[in-house]
Amino acid sequence: MSSAPITPTVVCAFTDLAPNSATRFVVNGTPVAVVRIGDDLYAIGDTCSHADISLSEGEVLCKEKEIECWKHGSSFSLETGEPQTLPATRPVPVFVARVVAGNVEIDVEVAA
Ligand code: FES
Repeated sequence: MSSAPITPTVVCAFTDLAPNSATRFVVNGTPVAVVRIGDDLYAIGDTCSHADISLSEGEVLCKEKEIECWKHGSSFSLETGEPQTLPATRPVPVFVARVVAGNVEIDVEVAA
């Protein structure tokens, strides 16, 4: 079984990301919420698994390493994508994110 290719995509400079907040990017056709907490970086699917709402418009819970959907209040782990509270019951995808030479790179499969 072959998997779709993954090409690292530079989305911005790390310093462009406001600390303790989320920014939405579309990477290879996939909406991604890129979250900076201090010097740590996370990237998860931006679309809430409960309804078509942008998670990056929600609140970043720094201590819990979660992001809260503003619509109905489900919060999602930035590390696993798993919902931590109802009403969402399904996870959102988690993507590899790294800083290379000061730029933020995200790995998202290229849609077939
Ligand atoms: S749309 Fe996100 S919790 Fe309902």
